[in-house]
Amino acid sequence: MTRVFSGVKPTGHLTLGNYLGAMRRWAAVDQHRADSLFCIVDLHALTVDHDPARVRRLSRQAATLLLASGLDPELCSVFVQSHVDEHTRLSYVLECVASDGEMRRMIQYKEKAVRERSRGGSVRLSLLTYPVLMAADILAYGADEVPVGDDQAQHVELTRDLAVRFNQRYGQTFVVPRATRPAVGARVMNLQEPASKMGKSEDVGPGIVYLLDEPDVVRRKVMRAVTDSGRGVEYDPQGRPGVANLLEILAACTGGDPVELGGGGAYGSYGELKRDTAEAVVEVLRPLRERHKELCADPAFVEGVLRDGAERARGLARPTVDAAYRAIGLLPAGTVVPTGAR
Ligand code: TYM
Repeated sequence: MTRVFSGVKPTGHLTLGNYLGAMRRWAAVDQHRADSLFCIVDLHALTVDHDPARVRRLSRQAATLLLASGLDPELCSVFVQSHVDEHTRLSYVLECVASDGEMRRMIQYKEKAVRERSRGGSVRLSLLTYPVLMAADILAYGADEVPVGDDQAQHVELTRDLAVRFNQRYGQTFVVPRATRPAVGARVMNLQEPASKMGKSEDVGPGIVYLLDEPDVVRRKVMRAVTDSGRGVEYDPQGRPGVANLLEILAACTGGDPVELGGGGAYGSYGELKRDTAEAVVEVLRPLRERHKELCADPAFVEGVLRDGAERARGLARPTVDAAYRAIGLLPAGTVVPTGAR
């Protein structure tokens, strides 16, 4: 059976981008057709300046939202990365097959390092090595597929490179995974700055729709989205990124096609497009918000799901990570070394 692994980082409140680019498919498709593991990757949240209490809070909230989005613990495993030691055990070994040049070429590293420095802060070493930990997350489980938004494609490509390199040097150990992306909504843009991704970590403000925003807040944000000075609605991501982003969001929420929605003069004005988009987003988020509220009233259920998820994850990851340790030359624990052996 196909194995699927993906994760979300608790660095901010989850956004419409996280949902349309990744989470929605996990619940609607992946958990039904594959052996799936979904992870709150809390160690990754420590790579930039962080508040411990906030990371804890956001981790709990992310777990609750994943379940609210429809992940069913009967069908898939949901767990917290730091509850399974195999991730960090494997990460170190993979650091021994990765190069520092490779790490420095990662787009997200470059962007975030510049941002941290411009704020006068220093760049944590873990920000540089982050993609190796991400590779370990995936390779520990022998995942075949990694459903992610476009911004993670480069990291999954690196994961493939590391898996192939390790297998070539030390013997067949890892499955070489591939990224899968949604046809629509793989890169939702910030409503106020349509040239930038709608990101949860660094930004705040009216250009980001959070999954737990009240319907009126969602409406206000969408109605105030930046469009362009052109007239008429058409799908042209290069020339008219603001309108294209709205069409993309509308299409993702209604199961349509952004090019078709923008063609044929279906929308005479930006106002109409914004209104329909706002209502479509509100409707998509409604069941999620309702289920989230129910789950918040039952924290013991969420805790139980995470406990069971981590236990299953440990059992799956352990043999692969042990195999990698042996392959790279580490002595298995408990081995008796004969006297005089080299
Ligand atoms: P993170 O937490 O930034 O995002 C979680 C998922 O949401 C997708 N996403 C988006 N998709 C479309 N439009 C957007 N604006 C948007 N913003 C975010 C992301 O592509 C991602 O799929 N490094 C990862 C977390 C991670 C991981 C892993 C993922 C750690 N280990 C192993 C997969 C497998 C991250 O920062 O995602």
